[in-house]
Amino acid sequence: MTERTRVAIVGAGPAGLMLAHLLDHAGIESIVLDSRTRHEIETTVRAGILEQNTVEILRQTGASDRVDTVGSRHDGIELRFDGAGHRIDFADLVGRGVWLYPQHEVLKDLIAARLAAGQDLRFSTRADEVVDIDSDRPRVLGTGPDGEAIEIEADFVVGAEGSRSITRDAVTGAHGGFFREYPFAWFGVLCEAPPSADELIYSNSPEGFALISQRSPEVQRMYFQCDPDQDPDAYTEAQLWDMLQARVPGTTLQEGSIFQRDVLRFRSFVAHRLLRGRAAIVGDAAHTVPPTGAKGMNLAIADVVVLARALERLLLGGSAELLESFEETALARIWKAQHFSWWMTSMLHRAPDASDFDNRRQLGELRSVVESRNGRGFLAEAYTGWPLPV
Ligand code: DHB
Repeated sequence: MTERTRVAIVGAGPAGLMLAHLLDHAGIESIVLDSRTRHEIETTVRAGILEQNTVEILRQTGASDRVDTVGSRHDGIELRFDGAGHRIDFADLVGRGVWLYPQHEVLKDLIAARLAAGQDLRFSTRADEVVDIDSDRPRVLGTGPDGEAIEIEADFVVGAEGSRSITRDAVTGAHGGFFREYPFAWFGVLCEAPPSADELIYSNSPEGFALISQRSPEVQRMYFQCDPDQDPDAYTEAQLWDMLQARVPGTTLQEGSIFQRDVLRFRSFVAHRLLRGRAAIVGDAAHTVPPTGAKGMNLAIADVVVLARALERLLLGGSAELLESFEETALARIWKAQHFSWWMTSMLHRAPDASDFDNRRQLGELRSVVESRNGRGFLAEAYTGWPLPV
């Protein structure tokens, strides 16, 4: 049996759920599918920093009040290199801040909001293929929780299912995308310990990069640069603490029991097309950024703010005008975020083949950022998030 909806959304991550939420506000019905269970979605550890724009949208649309109670505002970060810390004071530089509020908490809020509004959200339901996107009746063919075939016909299909996107195959065809690989990855740990500092520390050290982040007063998230093929179980807890500590010289970390560890491989990617006919891709389906600077989820939210307006105009106003400019508008921000994520990554990590020249040049680059109000301002503007198109 073919079911019908106005917008079929593949993927219940930040992009898919936020898009469904914004469309619901505009009175546009949608179906959201995800191959994972609700539990998996709500417990997978991801990044933790929200731009002020993202927080404002969560608040304005009534999606989350916990971002202000469970989350906490940060008005700066520390860049640490050559044995000293340098504060980037966001509040002073750009009058904006970021919020420490983990992605899975955002997902819990969006799932709760959608179910409370009686909206269609299907877990353990896999999309296998997106077809007929050049017609005005695109369809999603998939498999339900009991192995049953499903078929959803919509006015528009959105792929928000992350980097292994099947919607992207339909949208880009043979075109693929732009790639950049990196010769390192992040070793991430979650530990039971008090915070080591008030704000996040991004450290460039002779041993490589480390990021001292947080989750709550009792749980901290830390990362250090490692080889992409690193086995996460290769080190003892004591070795992990020694490695972390060695990468933030001049700071003493608060140690505690490490209860989760993972290796995050990363790369930069932008699809050659984000839109074709009656299908679009957003979030990680359309682009991936390296994690340094925490742009991934924020960029996904920015994409869907632009797409939601375009779909509202198309489906309620009968005009494709905003849809035609969706790709250009979204790509302008995507490439700025690509640059920022690449820049933070290259400035703070140590490439395996780096020469003495490269290492000294990197310190010169870091000094030219922290010693200049304009340099700090550039970082602060990007980190807290450029304004969304109004
Ligand atoms: C976190 C991840 C990031 O990539 C970042 O830049 C800051 C914080 C985090 O997981 O806490």
